[in-house]
Amino acid sequence: MDPMTKLLLALSLALFISVNNASLLHRAKKNQTMSTGKPFKVIVTHPEVPQEGLDILKEHCEIIQVNSLPTNRAELLEKIKGVDGAFWGGHEKLNAEVLDAAGPQLKSVSTMSAGIDFVDVPELKKRGIPLGHTPTVLNTAVADLAVGLVIAASRRFQEARKKIDTDNWENYHLNWLLGQDIRDSTVGFYGFGGIGQAIAKRLLGFDIDQVLYTTRRRVHKEIEEELKAKKVDFDTLLAQSDFIVIASPLTADTQGVFNATAFNKMKETAILVNIGRGKIVNQDDLYEALKSNRIFAAGLDVTDPEPLAPTDKLLTLDNAVVLPHIGSATKRTRAEMATIAAHNVLRGLAGEPMFSPAY
Ligand SMILES: *[C@@H]1O[C@H](CO)[C@@H](O)[C@H](O)[C@H]1NC(C)=O
Ligand SMILES: *[C@@H]1O[C@H](CO)[C@@H](O)[C@H](O)[C@H]1NC(C)=O
Repeated sequence: MDPMTKLLLALSLALFISVNNASLLHRAKKNQTMSTGKPFKVIVTHPEVPQEGLDILKEHCEIIQVNSLPTNRAELLEKIKGVDGAFWGGHEKLNAEVLDAAGPQLKSVSTMSAGIDFVDVPELKKRGIPLGHTPTVLNTAVADLAVGLVIAASRRFQEARKKIDTDNWENYHLNWLLGQDIRDSTVGFYGFGGIGQAIAKRLLGFDIDQVLYTTRRRVHKEIEEELKAKKVDFDTLLAQSDFIVIASPLTADTQGVFNATAFNKMKETAILVNIGRGKIVNQDDLYEALKSNRIFAAGLDVTDPEPLAPTDKLLTLDNAVVLPHIGSATKRTRAEMATIAAHNVLRGLAGEPMFSPAY
């Protein structure tokens, strides 16, 4: 071999080795990115989770998304295998079955909801898996909707709209479709947490006279002063309120509390608004109370059951405004719920306390 050939061979060999090294390095680096840059696998159980939540997770996690809608349980159970975290985007049952399918490495779960009635909380506790949810962000959206229902029910929106639909404008009457005023009224809250207080704050802008509330525990004195609120027993709440807003969670104690006995203690001009849970009201009794004009009107964002059948007798009433549980349904609120749920998951993965723990 002449010296020139030797040199060329050596050069090409070096080049071959370095090219190979480079691609090896590249692959190793890629592996490193996957194993250290994105150390966690997180399942997102719903295809419509707002991008704001996904973007936060993507920075630190490999995302595995469930694409079916309604959720295909089999897809969920397959994709959840081996994940470190779960962003629970819908109301699909979160129980021992999915936790078993996931495996023992699962260490962080958050729902994107305030209510967690679809979660087997004792099962998560038993396994020591932290659970997050997204309660307070939806307060303002729900409060806005409650004010909407207060106005819609007291000003007879449902009946009025029907007059147009049936070609029954009767505005030659002086007393056509007269409703109840909000100003100078007494507004009673059954349940007075964050949502109830947000509603009271808004209604104060309508020049109401006073706020009454029935809860187990008294709220802080400063809150009472700010909202002109006074704690009363249930019977006083029923007897004195012009508007009653149900803003409590559903528990064994609150189920069916608004029944015929309660309606019979209310003013005949009273308006009932429910943005809590449908089962707090005995709906058959409410139907009778509205039908017989024992109370003036009701505005409901929650019903029993949900979905409510289109043939339900409640929907035949002129003095009931019924919505399909859209309290938190605003773009911004949903984006904020996704953001908080994503941070909950990340904190759980890092072994830190969650932003809003559910237990
Ligand atoms: C990258 O990871 C895969 C599997 O995770 C492995 O088979 C492969 O050998 C790794 N490559 C390098 C260059 O480390
Ligand atoms: C309504 O519920 C109360 C308890 O909250 C109960 O004492 C009362 O008997 C009930 N009334 C009717 C008509 O069911």
